[in-house]
Amino acid sequence: MAAGNGVRQALSARTQTVFFALWPDAGVRAELAQAARRMHRVSQGQRTRDDSIHLTLAFVGAVDVENIARLLAPPASVFASAFLLTLDDWGCWARNGIGWAAPSHIPEPLRDLAANLEGWLRAAGFELEDRAFTPHVTLVRKAQCVPLPDSMRPVEWQVEDFVLVRSTVSSDGSRYQSIGRWPLLNPKS
Ligand code: 2AM
Repeated sequence: MAAGNGVRQALSARTQTVFFALWPDAGVRAELAQAARRMHRVSQGQRTRDDSIHLTLAFVGAVDVENIARLLAPPASVFASAFLLTLDDWGCWARNGIGWAAPSHIPEPLRDLAANLEGWLRAAGFELEDRAFTPHVTLVRKAQCVPLPDSMRPVEWQVEDFVLVRSTVSSDGSRYQSIGRWPLLNPKS
């Protein structure tokens, strides 16, 4: 028997879909939103809403609400230094129709931060997918992967913090809400 609306809501209220991410400030968001518009003109598909633009560090997925508090307390071993991220490459993955922007060089602190998060989460018993970390910002979904006529205008993103995001699905796609934010280490202080 199919679950009724009330039952479905009660079940979904017990879990939340969450992920750790880098979230751009207004200036970087505007530059990435412009890149998304440029790509979308060529690729069609569904452009990422400006206020949803982000880079995922670790996708945790559906988590019991009782476990959210543990995710809101990353240990000191997770933290890496603040870093400059240059998003200077863009393209499209034909396998999933994702149009992306990415760094051609992955800064060491970004690799460290993603690896540290993964190590902590696995050790804490969260089940992550076995995927290599491929840092990217999704600009367009359901893209037609035709060659882009010109190159990405590099976006310089000084990354000073990371966030835990809750994802909810509504009729017009996923909505994201940041529920925790932590500053990265400042090597100068
Ligand atoms: P994507 O942009 O390449 O789709 C929220 O869904 C964020 O988590 C997106 O940035 C998404 O990447 C990323 N993500 C990583 N693994 C995922 C998974 N197994 N399911 C859904 N989203 C995933």
